[in-house]
Amino acid sequence: MTTTGKVIKCRAAVAWEVGKSLSVEEVEVAPPKAREVRVKIVATGICCTDDHVLRGCFPNTEFPLIPGHEGAGIVESIGEGVTSVQPGDKVIPLCLPQCGECGFCLNPDSNYCKKAHFDETQNVMPDKTSRFTCKGKQLHHFLWVSTFAEYTVMPECAVAKIDAAAPLDKVCLLGCGFPTGYGAAINTAKVKPGSTCAVFGLGGVGLSAVMGCKAAGASRIIAVDINKGKFAKAKELGATDCVSPLDFKKPIQEVLTEMTGYGVDYSFEAIGHKDTLIAALASCNMSTGICVMAGELDSGSTISFDPMLLLCGRAWRGTLLGGWKMRDSIPKLVSSYLEKKFNLDLLITHTLPIAEVNKGFELLRTGKSIRSVLLF
Ligand code: APR
Ligand code: ZN
Ligand code: ZN
Repeated sequence: MTTTGKVIKCRAAVAWEVGKSLSVEEVEVAPPKAREVRVKIVATGICCTDDHVLRGCFPNTEFPLIPGHEGAGIVESIGEGVTSVQPGDKVIPLCLPQCGECGFCLNPDSNYCKKAHFDETQNVMPDKTSRFTCKGKQLHHFLWVSTFAEYTVMPECAVAKIDAAAPLDKVCLLGCGFPTGYGAAINTAKVKPGSTCAVFGLGGVGLSAVMGCKAAGASRIIAVDINKGKFAKAKELGATDCVSPLDFKKPIQEVLTEMTGYGVDYSFEAIGHKDTLIAALASCNMSTGICVMAGELDSGSTISFDPMLLLCGRAWRGTLLGGWKMRDSIPKLVSSYLEKKFNLDLLITHTLPIAEVNKGFELLRTGKSIRSVLLF
């Protein structure tokens, strides 16, 4: 019996209010409207950003909502006018869309899109209505993708068709964490062969940055984390040195500068704290160093720092999803993964049923997991 054109009842992890854990509920998912796609999510990773949302620290979100933005699934049905995917295709939902028409999309140097959440909130579909209800209440979408729902609807510009051979329980990480860290090194910093790098924070994003530095040919990769439990995996993925700031009396930027002579060529912050962001900046070469901010500070935070840090030429850059134009690049990253060009599997420490979503968040918060993948 086909579900096309019908409301689907299925499970979803719902965030009813700020600061509360998620509840797995039965929700109703309306069919896709024109230029929209309904996808059956098979697997979804738990990313730090979902935790920001639950704590109320992610900009422009509205409760109740269905979070999740690092998923992979299969197209169930398509709305009128959709041409790039068909029912049955394997896809990755894109938390950063690529409309292909705006000034950012047309600029080869940008991966931003005018339709991204920071311009036009993605708490409802483009026609300003929601496709989700639960217990008679309307639920908001999250970043247009809401991958913590077994079935979810997104605009066509926020979905990319991938190789039919891709294992969805692994490539879901290509929806956010891996491309963010890997691309921070490859695209944003443009790490050069033989260079020296430092990566602050060894979660899914930081470890992916370590992989990116290695792939770019860095000769020294210094991994920095206060949790030494993360060091073994960092070494396995390419870190040459691992240091904990807690082992030193002096600030970590002084330690890194002494270790390297003039500071590292590239530093990456993948934690999301003010102090480590400034420490990462101060750790790179004062004249030619590039510091990339991959971590996300709570929305509304401000930072104060000594502008002398930049005077001699250091650069401080942000990165959104690692600089990839998502619809163009994610399918290519899936192919690279299938060709074993990088190892995503090492980032996945836990696989849990959707019913254990809150346990997955607890593992992340206590530093016991890198990525937990939830299965429907
Ligand atoms: N110094 C060094 N390491 C630290 C510090 C600190 N002061 N505080 C936390 N860490 C380490 C943690 O021990 C952990 O290993 O930073 C790591 C952060 O990893 P995760 O919590 O798993 O986060 P991740 O999913 O990798 O995301 C990192 O990127 O996209 C953003 O929102 C995301 O801000 C978050 C960041
Ligand atoms: Zn665009
Ligand atoms: Zn994420």
